[in-house]
Amino acid sequence: MNNLDVLSSISVFLTGIFEKYGPDPDEYAGILEFIDQIEADEIEEFRQTMLPILNPGTIIGFSFTKPFGYNGDFFIIEKIYQHYVSPDPKYKKWDEFFHTFPAAIAVVNRKKLAIEILKNLNNKISENNSQVLILGSGPVSEVFEFSTKYPDSQMFFDLIDLDKRAIAYAKAKNKNFLARMSFHNVNVIRHNPGKTYDLIWSAGLFDYFKDKHFVYLLKKYYEFVKPGGEMIIGNFNVENPSRRIMEILGDWFLNHRSEEELMRFALQAGIPKSKIEIIREPLGINLFLKVSK
Ligand SMILES: C[S@@+](CC[C@H](N)C(=O)[O-])C[C@H]1O[C@@H](n2cnc3c(N)ncnc32)[C@H](O)[C@@H]1O
Repeated sequence: MNNLDVLSSISVFLTGIFEKYGPDPDEYAGILEFIDQIEADEIEEFRQTMLPILNPGTIIGFSFTKPFGYNGDFFIIEKIYQHYVSPDPKYKKWDEFFHTFPAAIAVVNRKKLAIEILKNLNNKISENNSQVLILGSGPVSEVFEFSTKYPDSQMFFDLIDLDKRAIAYAKAKNKNFLARMSFHNVNVIRHNPGKTYDLIWSAGLFDYFKDKHFVYLLKKYYEFVKPGGEMIIGNFNVENPSRRIMEILGDWFLNHRSEEELMRFALQAGIPKSKIEIIREPLGINLFLKVSK
C-alpha cells in the first residue's frame, strides 16, 4: 500500500470509529498500527482527521492543546493516576483507549514504585523522621497515598514545583498532611535546598531536560543527599511502545533515554560507579537512575 492509500484507509476506518464515538478494544491495535505507518509529512493531515477529539475534553487532546501551556502538567498526570474517563459519550471511549497505552500504565506504575520506596524508607529509619525532597512534585499523589496509609509517619517532605496551579492542587489534596510538607514554588534549576535529604525523588521531570541540564541538576542535588541516602530520577526509556502516539496525537515530546545514557550522566556528574544503579517499573518503560551516597 502506498502512503496515499494508507491515509485514505485511515480516514475511512476513523470515520466509522467517530460515528460510534470512539474505538472499542478490538480496534485499538488497528489504530496503533495505522499510526505507526504515518510518515512525518503526513502528521498534520492525520491530526486534521483526529480534530474532533484533539481538544481538552479527552486526555490525549488535553496533551495536544496544552491548556496549562506545557505537556505533562499536574492535571494530566493526575487524570492518568485516577484513571479518569470523560463522562461525555463523545470522549469516553477515547479516554478508555488512552489508559491502555503502555506509557500510561508505566506512569501509574511509577507512582506505585514511589510509594514502595517511601514505605521502605519509613520502615528503615527507626525514628521515622526522614527528610524527602521531591523535584517537580505535580499533584503529590504518591505522598498523599503514602500518608493516608501511614498517618503516624514523621517523614517530612519538601516539594518543589514551578507551576503555582500544581502547588495549589497538591495542597488541597494533601490538606490533612500539610504539617509534614513544605511547598516551594520555584524552578529546580534555581532552588537552593539549604539542607540534606535521605531521599531525593523525581519522576516525570528530567525527561524534559536536555542532557547538559540533566547532568547539571544531578550533580547539584547529589550534594544534598545525606550519607547513606539516595537520589532517584525517572526518565522514559528509549523503548517506549507508546512514543509515536504520544508524539503524533498528544504532541508530547520527551527526551527518551537508555540505561547506558543514564549511567553515563551519573558518571559525568562525578558519582562513583559503585554508587550507580538503574531500576525500572514493571513495564521497563520508565527507567530510574538511582545514586546512593
Ligand atoms: C509530569 S509532572 C510529574 C509530577 C510528579 N512528579 C509525578 O510523577 O506525579 C511534572 C511536574 O514538574 C513541574 N515542573 C516542570 N518543570 C519544572 C522546573 N523546571 N522546576 C520545577 N518544577 C517543574 C511541572 O509543573 C509538573 O507539575
